[in-house]
Amino acid sequence: MTVNTKGRFSGKECVVTGGASGIGLETASLFAREGGTVTILDMDVTRCDSALKVLNGISDAGHRTFVLDLTSGEKVSEMAIALRKVSPTTDVLINCAAIAAPGPITGWFLTMEESQWRPLIEVNFVAHVRVLQALLPGMLDLPNGSSVVNVISDSYLGYDKQLAMYGAGKAALASLTKTISRELGSKGVRVNGVSPSATSTPSTSEWLDKYQERIVKMYPLGRIGEGIDQANAIAFLASNDSAWITGQILSVNGGFL
Ligand SMILES: NC(=O)c1ccc[n+]([C@@H]2O[C@H](COP(=O)([O-])OP(=O)(O)OC[C@H]3O[C@@H](n4cnc5c(N)ncnc54)[C@H](O)[C@@H]3O)[C@@H](O)[C@H]2O)c1
Repeated sequence: MTVNTKGRFSGKECVVTGGASGIGLETASLFAREGGTVTILDMDVTRCDSALKVLNGISDAGHRTFVLDLTSGEKVSEMAIALRKVSPTTDVLINCAAIAAPGPITGWFLTMEESQWRPLIEVNFVAHVRVLQALLPGMLDLPNGSSVVNVISDSYLGYDKQLAMYGAGKAALASLTKTISRELGSKGVRVNGVSPSATSTPSTSEWLDKYQERIVKMYPLGRIGEGIDQANAIAFLASNDSAWITGQILSVNGGFL
């Protein structure tokens, strides 16, 4: 087994939150295939174990996982200290962790209980604020710059009924993406967002299979997304291929309007 020394992420330290499943795992695997050393931050211990096996099967670049609930400020601080010991700097940070399954994120605003909507803000927005504040100090003023990609959702645009609070959390993340890109550009940190629409992952595949016929009709490109469609866009924004792009949100949605 060898490390790909020609890939876009060769020699780069790449952190992926939510990297044990779905879009995060596709992205982590792509980074590994292109020479990166991947650190997965995720709360699911079983998925972390199998994700690490996948990454180690791709390359022996010293991939690692940290199992933690990113809604805990204390755990995020502990993780950042531990990560800094093995990797003082971070070249790429992908904020992908979220509550993403249709059931937990869906509901009419008027009747949605706080016990349902609060986690959508805590996990899908507040946790990313914590991770960013913990890891950005190790991303500033690096010789080749660094890149953050926040994984949003087209529901941040507010078009989807029954996704008010999921969409609001994602809209907060989209706004944060734009504002901090302005603050951090002079320190060599680019900050962008990828905004997926319906993409088949462990969280969504059952629901997408059930409504496939109806959903596919909404997409000019005639299919729903795959994890690799999102990973390719994330990797573009994470790599030097997008060296003069910051503060942008790229919808990856098969042309859905
Ligand atoms: N799949 C889609 O159709 C779709 C559409 C729009 C946006 N997105 C976004 O893409 C991203 C990935 O979605 P996915 O479908 O791959 O999801 P997924 O459920 O397959 O993966 C999410 C990962 O986040 C982790 N996670 C959740 N809460 C956490 C916490 N508190 N601490 C640590 N880890 C936590 C989970 O353990 C899981 O491994 C999410 O941000 C989601 O909102 C997905």
